[in-house]
Amino acid sequence: MAIGIFGKNKGSSGAKTLDGVILPEHIGIIMDGNGRWAKKRGLPRKAGHRAGAKNFRTITKHCANIGIKYLTVYAFSTENWKRPESEVQALMELFKSYLEEAIRDFKDEDIVVRFIGDKTAFSPELQALIRENEECSKDRSGMVLNIAMNYGGRDEIVRAAKRIAQRAVDGEISLDDITEQAVSDNLYTAGQPDPDLIIRPSGEYRISNFLLWQSAYAEYVILDDVLWPDFSKEMLENCILEYARRNRRFGSV
Ligand code: IPE
Ligand code: IPE
Ligand code: MG
Repeated sequence: MAIGIFGKNKGSSGAKTLDGVILPEHIGIIMDGNGRWAKKRGLPRKAGHRAGAKNFRTITKHCANIGIKYLTVYAFSTENWKRPESEVQALMELFKSYLEEAIRDFKDEDIVVRFIGDKTAFSPELQALIRENEECSKDRSGMVLNIAMNYGGRDEIVRAAKRIAQRAVDGEISLDDITEQAVSDNLYTAGQPDPDLIIRPSGEYRISNFLLWQSAYAEYVILDDVLWPDFSKEMLENCILEYARRNRRFGSV
């Protein structure tokens, strides 16, 4: 299977740099392992989420600094509501304080902040912060950061199908207009390139409903024994180097 696995120490070789490397235009990150990170330290899961949120900031800025054009981070899935209410509550509080800071924090980095997922499930306060982040960053020209919150790939595809069906019902389009491009154009990521590289720390070999349509030809790098709060800038660069070594064929020879 074409999955790159990094061991514990491989992220610190420091032997290679990104000089001259063709970068992925769009990186997706499944920020997984916060709970286990906390458990290992005898801390509540909430502390893991706090550490994960801090690392999100570091890695996002680093992506922007090295010239990545699009970054999509998976912060909360449509299935994560199944978690104990206290954990969901803690995550919502964390999102709130983070989004308050993000308005200032990503300004210097020139980052365009967007949210993908069904926002209607969030509190009015959180929805207002989401809108404020999008609004105040929309005219920036740097990296586009998609924060996937209450995001599910299946939910996104159903939403796209409904939007397209509505146009057909209204007589605006015919069956022949329902193309792959039409589906892409009705996803949350409309107008953006598909992810080239998807990174998942914490050693889970699954997609967990992340960017299902968009990842058709993404390269996966799974990090076996690194949990998200410990995922470093150097590890990110090693994932990019691993990506650069891959031979992408897109079904061709
Ligand atoms: C990812 O870390 C954060 C969210 C899903 C919100 P987890 O909370 O899934 O951490 P593990 O997988 O239990 O270690
Ligand atoms: C995926 O991680 C979602 C996020 C990282 C936000 P999960 O921890 O929810 O995935 P599963 O349950 O292990 O598949
Ligand atoms: Mg998890």
